[in-house]
Amino acid sequence: MKIKSARIFDTLPDSIRIIGIDKKIVWVNRRFEKLFGGEKNDIIGGTCSDYFCAERLFGDGDCFIDSFERGEAVFPKEITLKDKNGNLGSFLVTCTPYRNENGDVVGVVEYLREITSLTITRTALEEQLLRSKVILGKTVNSLVSAIESRDPYTAGHQRRVSQLVRRIAQKFKPDDRKWIEGIRVAAQLHDIGKICVPAEILSHPGDLSKEQFELIKLHSETGFRILGDIEFAFGFPVSEVIIQHHERLDGSGYPVGISENRIMLEARILAVADVVEAMINHRPYRVGLGIDSALREIVDNAGKKYDEKVSEACRSLFIDEGFEFQDIV
Ligand SMILES: [Fe+2]
Repeated sequence: MKIKSARIFDTLPDSIRIIGIDKKIVWVNRRFEKLFGGEKNDIIGGTCSDYFCAERLFGDGDCFIDSFERGEAVFPKEITLKDKNGNLGSFLVTCTPYRNENGDVVGVVEYLREITSLTITRTALEEQLLRSKVILGKTVNSLVSAIESRDPYTAGHQRRVSQLVRRIAQKFKPDDRKWIEGIRVAAQLHDIGKICVPAEILSHPGDLSKEQFELIKLHSETGFRILGDIEFAFGFPVSEVIIQHHERLDGSGYPVGISENRIMLEARILAVADVVEAMINHRPYRVGLGIDSALREIVDNAGKKYDEKVSEACRSLFIDEGFEFQDIV
């Protein structure tokens, strides 16, 4: 059996066009004819900008021949084209050099693969992902409202802590928006575990008994268990940050008593913001202590209980930049 290469190309489901060095169309396969309409003989001899212009892929004003001479090639790039009926479709186009027997570049082979259905699927998935993000955001807000409705004294605590956490986080990784958003979400939910603490303990005026305090201390582990199976955007470890938010640098925290760098930076940031917000505002068992006391706590204990850099970033936010919680009356 004699194999004719041109006939093989005519059986391909993808379109092929060969452009000569003079930028005239030298050859097309059958699929190309069908896609754009017309007979091979009418198409051949036309200019390379007929139907579409692959030269755009090489950058402004550049010629694909020059690019190939420099050893460059155009790897699959996505383009949108109109077929013979005027319908828009998505294509992957690959350009490779066409060489003569001496190895000189004498043209370009353009290989077009239609990916319209893939593009439609991808767009649908992107829309689905966006919807999932919106639903997750609403779920987070519902969870925040649920815990706050049981505990009026700390209503807004998590939201205010998340404001402060976001500003501190910006000082550490200003360009990492995903990380900043992740830590903000963790802050918004950090006391979710209090949903399992009896409401009368949460709103108990005056000092708590040792047993009552032990119950409250369970909230970081409970929060970890509640959120542990939820896949948050960007894979951010929200539940791990939450279980560590009462750990302290010197090992005096809970639930495990881990110390130093074993505590995640995100949890060290949340710890400082949590303490500062809690001290500034009223609690059932005491009146608000004010910004000065809160900042004294984190500055005096910087390097002991709290991360030094985080404490300084927080102090600087209030003192140098005049940070204020947005919903504080
Ligand atoms: Fe907490």
